[in-house]
Amino acid sequence: MKKLAAGNWKMNGNRAALAEVAALLAAHPTPACDMLLCPPTTLLAEMATLAQGSALKVGGQDCHAKTFGAHTGDVSAAMLVDAGASYVILGHSERRADHGETDALVLAKAEAAIAAGLIAIICVGETEAQRDAGETLAVIGAQLDGSVPANATAAALVLAYEPVWAIGTGRTPTLNQIAEVHNFLRARLTAHIGVEAANTRLLYGGSVKPSNAAEIFAVPDVDGALVGGASLKAADFGAIVAALT
Ligand code: PGA
Repeated sequence: MKKLAAGNWKMNGNRAALAEVAALLAAHPTPACDMLLCPPTTLLAEMATLAQGSALKVGGQDCHAKTFGAHTGDVSAAMLVDAGASYVILGHSERRADHGETDALVLAKAEAAIAAGLIAIICVGETEAQRDAGETLAVIGAQLDGSVPANATAAALVLAYEPVWAIGTGRTPTLNQIAEVHNFLRARLTAHIGVEAANTRLLYGGSVKPSNAAEIFAVPDVDGALVGGASLKAADFGAIVAALT
């Protein structure tokens, strides 16, 4: 399967930051992996225009479960498509924490995203307290059960394992811990969507940097990365892209 290097700019970047995208495209015109950046919604359409005809795809960081209507401040999956997106991140731990998003809501959003033609990147991950209590697999298993649409296919779904305690902290799980979770996710996903699970990309996310990317990508069942801080600079994200063959 084609691996995926996905960048999540979160609430960072203004129009001047699009210079990083131009630099990324100049340095990596034909990457071996799929390459995706998810900017703030304000930059989506302009980044999509910049990426036209290149190897770079663009995506949203969230969407509403409804198609349109009286939902101040929200964007729908169809609007993301209209702006040029082909992916959307859903259920990121920051949205689960900041906006109280539940598995059921993430499921509804994922169904809407896939129906609109987007590839849904569904995020799961344990807190540090949950890992310390030995609950990691139970927690992420329940998140997967509650948020992955029953009819999802490998072409429309990406699953991202993002330990909450590893996001933006510079800390990462051991390679064995990543392997354990990704192996578990593949098996659990198979119980939901059968053979499609074998070709569904499983990303690791949380403090991925140029210096640790290669060793993380060598872990079995790691099919790419969801990168926050290191996706903001073309040189860092480009190095991660180059490590993903
Ligand atoms: P980080 O964020 O790479 O800055 O740790 C990852 C994420 O939240 O997707």
